[in-house]
Amino acid sequence: SEPLRVALAGLGTVGGGVIRLLDANRELIARRAGREIEIVAVSARDRGKDRGVDLSRFAWVDDTTALAKQPGAEVVVELIGGSDGPALTLARSTLAAGRHFVTANKAMIAHHGLELAQAAEAAGVALKFEAAVAGGIPVIKGLREGAAANEIARVYGILNGTCNFILSKMESEGRDFAEVLAEAQALGFAESDPSFDIDGVDAAHKLSILAAVAFGTQPAFDDVAISGIRHLLGADIAEAAALGYRVRLLGLAEAGTDGLFQRVHPHLVPIDHPLANVTGSLNAVVAEGNFVGRLLFQGAGAGDGPTASAVVADLIDIARGEFGPPFAMPVASLSAAPKADSGER
Ligand code: HSE
Repeated sequence: SEPLRVALAGLGTVGGGVIRLLDANRELIARRAGREIEIVAVSARDRGKDRGVDLSRFAWVDDTTALAKQPGAEVVVELIGGSDGPALTLARSTLAAGRHFVTANKAMIAHHGLELAQAAEAAGVALKFEAAVAGGIPVIKGLREGAAANEIARVYGILNGTCNFILSKMESEGRDFAEVLAEAQALGFAESDPSFDIDGVDAAHKLSILAAVAFGTQPAFDDVAISGIRHLLGADIAEAAALGYRVRLLGLAEAGTDGLFQRVHPHLVPIDHPLANVTGSLNAVVAEGNFVGRLLFQGAGAGDGPTASAVVADLIDIARGEFGPPFAMPVASLSAAPKADSGER
């Protein structure tokens, strides 16, 4: 059968990872997907930059948004980032052209997920974003498919690797916030604007997507009450440790009688809770279903390999023709959850 032809926008860490993964596991993926997955065209800001991968076999497209109409491509993968701008233009025009769209862009899905899901549904194509939440951890799939038969009471977890890295190092090494932040940035998993990490915005993007999938509600980023870790002191963390707790930045969404409660803030986690033992830049998500019980997903929430793994898993679903509504139910069935009072003023 014909290969699934892909146009790739963005050749940063994750874009390079996708190319390397498809090269390394080509045969295995073809057997699993039932057809080859082949990148045919790429686009990025800087053509000359050395990315350690051979790009000469792909068509180079200068205008990223033109990838939506790349001849022969059935699917566009967007790894540019940013809630608006070229990423959003590309998403809209790809779906309008009746082509599938795969993205790692949490900010865009948090803000425009409903509109894009509507467009995908109208065109009968896939909109997939496994890589947008918790990097390599298949948590969207886990909730959307694995736990699809359950009513979910609560979903919560460590959704930002930068904050978890900072909090773990502050505790284990007694170091300063600023110093550890600089190290996280050097390791490459902090956002280009690290205030999105440390002020909880990145975790809130991911939480609002998770909540929509878990509760069948429209994504509602603006309803997330957010506080980050910027003002935490080494002394706060030492004090918590002395009392038997670790500090973790958690995103938590819970369906209550008066609406959907969504909140990101530093929590005291008892030392014997599984989330207390998630250290470094790892992510973890807990979901409670009424028949399956408590699920724990854990793994790498960022990085080229893990994030590429999630992007390519989405491509395999598309190659198999296995995709459904982006948020686990058709847009018309998603409820507009009234915001529950989070107590944040
Ligand atoms: N800046 C994010 C993090 C990257 O630290 O978790 C993955 O979304």
